[in-house]
Amino acid sequence: MTETPALAIILAAGKGTRMKSDRPKVLHRLAGAPLLAHVLHAAKAAGLTRCAVVVGPGMDEVAAAATALDPKIEMFVQAEQLGTADAVKAARRAVEEFQGHVLVLYGDTPLLMPETLHKARAELISGADLVVIGFEAENPTGYGRLLLDDRGRLAAIREEKDASEEERALTLCNSGIMAFRSSKTLLGLLGRIGNDNANKEFYLTDAAALARGDRLEARMVLSNAEEVLGVNSRAELAEAEILMQRRLRASVMANGATLVAPETVFLSHDTRIGKDVIIEPHVVIGVRVVIEDDATIKSFCYMQDSRIGKGATVGPFARLRPGAVLAKDAHVGNFVEIKQSEIGEGAKVNHLTYIGDTSVGARANVGAGTITCNYDGFAKHRTEIGADAFIGSNSSLVAPVKIGEGAYIGSGSVISKDVAPDALALTRSPQEEREGWAAKMRERRKRKPKNGGNKRT
Ligand code: UD1
Ligand code: CA
Repeated sequence: MTETPALAIILAAGKGTRMKSDRPKVLHRLAGAPLLAHVLHAAKAAGLTRCAVVVGPGMDEVAAAATALDPKIEMFVQAEQLGTADAVKAARRAVEEFQGHVLVLYGDTPLLMPETLHKARAELISGADLVVIGFEAENPTGYGRLLLDDRGRLAAIREEKDASEEERALTLCNSGIMAFRSSKTLLGLLGRIGNDNANKEFYLTDAAALARGDRLEARMVLSNAEEVLGVNSRAELAEAEILMQRRLRASVMANGATLVAPETVFLSHDTRIGKDVIIEPHVVIGVRVVIEDDATIKSFCYMQDSRIGKGATVGPFARLRPGAVLAKDAHVGNFVEIKQSEIGEGAKVNHLTYIGDTSVGARANVGAGTITCNYDGFAKHRTEIGADAFIGSNSSLVAPVKIGEGAYIGSGSVISKDVAPDALALTRSPQEEREGWAAKMRERRKRKPKNGGNKRT
């Protein structure tokens, strides 16, 4: 929307004490991705050209996670957590050398939408020096309040601890997102922010009142409350998850998938679902799952890191573990677990089966209770099942082993040697039959009293 480049500074150095966690707050996950990843994603989608993340000392994990998401992200360390203005100062070098808009985002507001950042930038383009994104809170507790002058213009931001009773009654709150026309605007204000407040912290939010004092144009843009929910506690994390899931479900439905009971289907941030896919109630989809057009996922399935081909059917009660790849029209039925395996086009693995480190050829039929014995206690081994093969029920395939195309495995076999194409292999002890045995046995028992002859009285 604009040619002006923009820098995002994402603050993530806070200790996140309210999470009661050993893990840095921004690494807690929402729809399978760290909070920080969601914020970075919004920043990128809004066309912010450069990104700097501010972390606390020892937050190497956060730095590693951020660089994994985007190797070009610049990392800064805030030595001591002296407040949000101090955190921005930690990224001073990135700001100083930057020409363009500077947006400060908080790493703990993962539901942020790129459109809102666009709106803030549009205000900068139309003449604002500083833009604050505000929202009407149902429950404003914990948020900074936006103070407007009698003409409705942004005059100051008051943190809750410093607010008077009247100010606390205000419901117009600060989302934490601030946009500055240039690095000069930001640096000019930043240098004058003090820590004369209840927390003795340097509040970035003081920039609003300072800007007004400088006769700069400070504006407020409203966003909806859901989008700027700050995650400070586990309860807020759960609330954010609810909202994020709703968003993800709405998006897959908008793309043409049917969710029979949307509230019971859990998706991940990167779930890709094609059109005319049907997902029955109670399905959990972990990260890196792709479901192609016309596939059906029946109730009570759990999957992650898997690909489900066009027209394939999964479940009910199936588990797809990492590396499960189902080709077109494959069938995976109830109580089946598949790991690191390819199931060929039209192949069927329908009942009570474990398939691990295996390739199942097209149209093969894997009978009920088949187990690929892929692990010998030391290493994993592969099983290959050729196209059109038939694996009789309750067979164990001891890997490494190859079942040739079109071969037939008799039920109940333990197969530990390769089977040639079109052969029959079975490892069964021969069946014995004793004519009349059961009738004779019953006769014997009738004559002999139970309990070794104890007489009833
Ligand atoms: C902040 C805002 C408040 C706003 C709310 C919205 C300030 C002073 N207050 O309050 O007006 O309504 O967010 O969610 O900005 N951080 C650092 N270094 C620090 C302190 C914080 O990097 O020294 C980071 C945190 O990791 C976090 C963000 O800044 O990502 C906000 O800090 P937090 O302590 O969560 O501020 P709030 O009390 O939520
Ligand atoms: Ca917060």
